[in-house]
Amino acid sequence: MSSQQTIVRRMEALLPPVTVRLLHAAGALASQAGVPLLLVGGSVRDLLLGRPVLDLDLAVEGDAPRLAAALAQELGGTVTARSQFGTAKLKTPDLTLDLASARRETYARPGALPTVAPGGLEEDLARRDFTINAMAVDLAPGAFGALRDPFDGQGDLERRTVRVLHGGSFADDATRILRATRYEARLGFRMDPDTEALARRDAHYLDAIGGDRLRRELERTFQEPQPEVAMTRSRDLGVLAAIQPTLGWPESHSQALARWRGEGERVQPLLFAALLASPLSPEEATALAKRLNAPLRWGRVIRDTVELRDRLPALEAPGIRPSQVAALLRGLEPTAMEAWAALAQEATMRQRLLDYVRRWRYVKSTLNGHDLLALGVPNGPAMGRLLAELLDARLDGLLRSRAEEEEFVRQALSRAL
Ligand code: CTP
Repeated sequence: MSSQQTIVRRMEALLPPVTVRLLHAAGALASQAGVPLLLVGGSVRDLLLGRPVLDLDLAVEGDAPRLAAALAQELGGTVTARSQFGTAKLKTPDLTLDLASARRETYARPGALPTVAPGGLEEDLARRDFTINAMAVDLAPGAFGALRDPFDGQGDLERRTVRVLHGGSFADDATRILRATRYEARLGFRMDPDTEALARRDAHYLDAIGGDRLRRELERTFQEPQPEVAMTRSRDLGVLAAIQPTLGWPESHSQALARWRGEGERVQPLLFAALLASPLSPEEATALAKRLNAPLRWGRVIRDTVELRDRLPALEAPGIRPSQVAALLRGLEPTAMEAWAALAQEATMRQRLLDYVRRWRYVKSTLNGHDLLALGVPNGPAMGRLLAELLDARLDGLLRSRAEEEEFVRQALSRAL
């Protein structure tokens, strides 16, 4: 079977029939208009790997927004976004396609966003990060399924290798180093020795990357099934230290996660932000949040993880009551608590953190302020105190029903008289 036939088979196996029909139709329409249309980037990589294809990225040797409009008219659907950078999104009831005008890119200086100019397909592939992402599949009727692979991406897929296209790739865009660790972690690949040496050499260019871009890159890594593999590698390559000198990823983090997962716990992405922050001083944590231009939740996770560290010993106190645990933890980010629960060697402390995250933080007294007013409690500080006492007594299992709470309030009132 020719490689073209193999790819068509793969498309039929991995994509819904309606998508394959649409790709045929789009290829035919583009070809009538005289513009080559190809599937590119991650979609080709995943097709060849036999992995689910999540995004369909198309490159047009010509005006992508114009072709998108023509496709929408002919095949149904709407063009939902178009930009001056020659990209457009086509949404049909069945799927979304991203179309981009083939382009070449140049970088004025390390870390700068690229300067973009229209280009041919070869140039569009040559501007990309890795050989495994620099392949295209033709969609034109006569050539449907033909692979364009100028950098032997297919060979690197077989060798399970992440390889840059040229020595300046990471200096152009140092976020690619994080991308490389992500592909290694996701696909079980490895950088070739030259690429790895370049990654080590150029990690310092991460300095030139803005906080939002850097954070988004980390967020994408945290969403992988095994971010800890990418974190370990990022540590070894000097990537974490380039983000902030004291940032690290101790082996114990990965071990803690393995145990945590083994117990059936879900690992949410921001847990990794908490783990990264866990050994930092408060000043370092503040600097990290600033470096990553952390939005509210990120910032709180980083800050509270560090803040919580000082409160952990108190959680180990023998006989500590749930209300005392709640007083220590109330108002802090639950993700910070999960991170310390995952890291905890000490079973009691770990259990208390989890009890609070899963149960105690949701506990409320049955009576509210209105009920207390009706029972004769005056509005004011006494009301606040009594509500807090009610909650504590509920948490500690001393009150179990509305009637018991009412009795508790009456007794408090009579004491006050
Ligand atoms: N790309 C690049 N350099 C970057 C980011 C992206 O060259 N810094 C190129 C790659 O060819 C990549 C394509 O743009 O395949 C699309 O980027 P993205 O959607 O981030 O990558 P995917 O390959 O789709 O990766 P993923 O599977 O993680 O979504």
